[in-house]
Amino acid sequence: MCGIVGYLGERPAASTILDGLRALEYRGYDSAGLAVLTPDGLEVRRCAGRISDLAPLVEDAHLTGSIGVGHTRWATHGAVTDDNAHPHADASGRLVIVHNGMTDNVDELRAELLADGHQFSSETDTEVIAHLIGVERDRGAELPDALGRALQRLVGAHSVAVLAADEPDMLAAGRIGAAGGLVVGHNGCGAILASDLPAVVRHTRKVQIVQAGEVVSLRRRAAEFRRLDNRPVTRGLITVPWDPVAAAKAGHRHFMHKEIHEQPETLAETIRPRVTLDPPELRLDDFRLPTDARQIDRAVIVASGTSHIAGMVGARYLRELARLPAATEIASEFAYAPGPLTRRTLVIAVSQSGETADVLVAVQRAHAAGAPVAALVNTVGSELTRMADAVLPLHAGPEVSVAATKTFTSELGAFYLLACQLAQQRGACTQAQFERRIAAIAHAPIAVARALDVEPQVEELARRFHRCKNFLFLGRGLGHPVALEGALKLKEISYIHAEGFAAGELKHGPIALIDPDMPVVAVALDDDDVRAKTLNAVAQIRSRDGRVILVASDADDLRGDLAEHVVRVPRTAPLIAPLVGVVPLQLFAYHMAVRLGLDVDQPRNLAKSVTVE
Ligand code: AGP
Repeated sequence: MCGIVGYLGERPAASTILDGLRALEYRGYDSAGLAVLTPDGLEVRRCAGRISDLAPLVEDAHLTGSIGVGHTRWATHGAVTDDNAHPHADASGRLVIVHNGMTDNVDELRAELLADGHQFSSETDTEVIAHLIGVERDRGAELPDALGRALQRLVGAHSVAVLAADEPDMLAAGRIGAAGGLVVGHNGCGAILASDLPAVVRHTRKVQIVQAGEVVSLRRRAAEFRRLDNRPVTRGLITVPWDPVAAAKAGHRHFMHKEIHEQPETLAETIRPRVTLDPPELRLDDFRLPTDARQIDRAVIVASGTSHIAGMVGARYLRELARLPAATEIASEFAYAPGPLTRRTLVIAVSQSGETADVLVAVQRAHAAGAPVAALVNTVGSELTRMADAVLPLHAGPEVSVAATKTFTSELGAFYLLACQLAQQRGACTQAQFERRIAAIAHAPIAVARALDVEPQVEELARRFHRCKNFLFLGRGLGHPVALEGALKLKEISYIHAEGFAAGELKHGPIALIDPDMPVVAVALDDDDVRAKTLNAVAQIRSRDGRVILVASDADDLRGDLAEHVVRVPRTAPLIAPLVGVVPLQLFAYHMAVRLGLDVDQPRNLAKSVTVE
């Protein structure tokens, strides 16, 4: 959840680390800090607040040195204060660490160290870990070995990087547990270490991944990997397909805005290399199902947040296109009550980051029960890509804004392709059906591009509605997950209370909430029967003086007074409708947050990758 950066090379460490931290700020932005080994020893600068608060402290200090570590924090143990900001030092002050993770046994370890006379200046578990490493150094362990021994004492999932004053040419870093990525890369000028790729790809696209249970000794020209028990490990290089400039804002005011507008291209990246229309073919070349498609009797989709909502649509695709019983589970719930799983249950994990701890634990549970696991993931090289038996990459490119947008539509696109492939392999569709279906998804990027045309109207709606304190979102069929996603986006970045629910449930309770101060966003895009039912719900709201923003297709003939505002998106095949229906809701959340003057890309209390359970 926090972001770690380490650098050693020919460039000034302080500014290089600051750059890296800026690229990782989506992971947490409660506090920030860095340490550089200068000719005068270890120098630490840190503060509560963002990288922009840290930068002047670092610049004023003129830190001279070419090796250092940095951190951007999402608070777990300890409040958001200067003292709790990383890096943290050991008892002697001769080494500092930066850390991502949560120590479940911190009380026990702290008590043990206090009994031995240690004193702490923060409330963090990180300082406890620093002291543990210092204790191992006092016993004579080399830096990587001391780190490895300390890591073995921790319960939980952790990534740690260490800088020691008496090791001026090496950084040690290590991982345990199923969360918290760690990537290293070299270019001609030095070595970089980071929690995630955006901080590394600006230096090199050839990277090595530090896996759980490993410690890496990072030097200017090479990295040496070892297991915690000191066995050496050979680690190959992965080439990251991302273009570093793709992560820049490209003229947009916010990453979220850029990422919403990228969707026609990113969805096309997910779909088009895999689909041809002449001849009609679907080839998921990079994806090998971990089991015979005909042997699967059920699919369970596990994911969190927006990816979970995408999974709800995905389950419908699997049921409808592949005739496969499928359900979606919240990963954190599934992890501790997975229900009956067999070798014939295909578990499908979905994640933008591939790092979400709840999802990784769910995958462990599935494997423990013998179920094959496929994953839909955006981040190449992430932990989930290593854990899953088969990976279908989204190819949506780096998503920087904390609010997921383009990866939602790419997850839907990937699910659709997977369902079409399973349908073929299971003999669940005719050739004519198959051809119609892949033609529908191949045209989806164009429909998404046209849906973006609603932006001026949506911006005007945000002007009218931004002072409202509560919203309801409703939809039926595939409009239901779209409504849930609209509500999640709105609350996430504008802090407005928003609730999404199935339109048919309106009359079973939520209708009591309807009054002029409770605007409703209704999504009516599904096939004819469902659309008519959703419009009934809208009529029930209007007859109780409710205010309705209706998202409908441009082909619908609607009664003029049905809704206060109607946002029209292109008519598509019903199963494609969520891909276009979500666009006005993403834009609505975005413009509401902009109107309210909020930090769109880094909303309070959130982080892009949630690497703690
Ligand atoms: C989406 O806008 C949220 N930031 C959040 O719900 C996110 O989708 C969730 O944390 C899952 O992340 P993942 O896709 O990286 O696993």
